[in-house]
Amino acid sequence: MDKQQKLRLDKYLADMQIGTRSQIKDMVRKGRVMVDGVVVKSSDIKVLPGVDDIVVDGQQVGYVGKEYYMLNKPQGVVSATEDSSCKTVLDCITDKQRKDLFPVGRLDKDTEGLLLITNDGELAHELLSPKKHVEKCYYARINGSINSAMVDELEKGVDLGDFVSLPAKVEVLSSSDAESEVRIVIVEGKFHQVKRMFESVGRTVIFLKRLSMGSLLLDESLLPGEYRKLTEAEIMTLKNR
Ligand code: URA
Repeated sequence: MDKQQKLRLDKYLADMQIGTRSQIKDMVRKGRVMVDGVVVKSSDIKVLPGVDDIVVDGQQVGYVGKEYYMLNKPQGVVSATEDSSCKTVLDCITDKQRKDLFPVGRLDKDTEGLLLITNDGELAHELLSPKKHVEKCYYARINGSINSAMVDELEKGVDLGDFVSLPAKVEVLSSSDAESEVRIVIVEGKFHQVKRMFESVGRTVIFLKRLSMGSLLLDESLLPGEYRKLTEAEIMTLKNR
């Protein structure tokens, strides 16, 4: 439970998805809401999350301010908060408490791996701001071989038409005429960036998985589609980067 500044009772309860503001007003009017053991008469009183005891219909309602989840995004799921036809990354977080969560950046529908899902706008801004050059590491399987000239080009930066990529780090894990495996670290997050970088050296990405973002590493015990809360240490390290 987060300790924070005072909040209006209706916002507190709406944040915890107890109802809409007007439903909450109605609950209060009907005497269903107690604060510190006293039935309240108005939904616009201020309460202190983590300190005041809020009870609705006899059930205590704790407050969660910020939530942080690490999702191993599976293929076939879109990095959006809602979508009319496709499952979204938010649909994967089945026990979320806040309704204002969003993914920090986007992975393509066919990309797997690390996606941070939170409602911490400040942290998201820090991680996504182009000026901050936050490193993102990907594992990629590529059709065909990768030679050192290609690695040099990718590492120097390639012209993708609308922009030239900033220097990347590339580690070739294996390479054969049929297929190669690489780890690539980039500091930008442009649309289809990794795929476009490999296309510019004549190769196609056939599988892509994000392994890390800044200090946050994908927990390899998470299968695609699984998620967990970030630890306090992971949150602190991300914030103090
Ligand atoms: N680069 C891509 O091409 N796709 C992603 O999903 C992420 C980075």
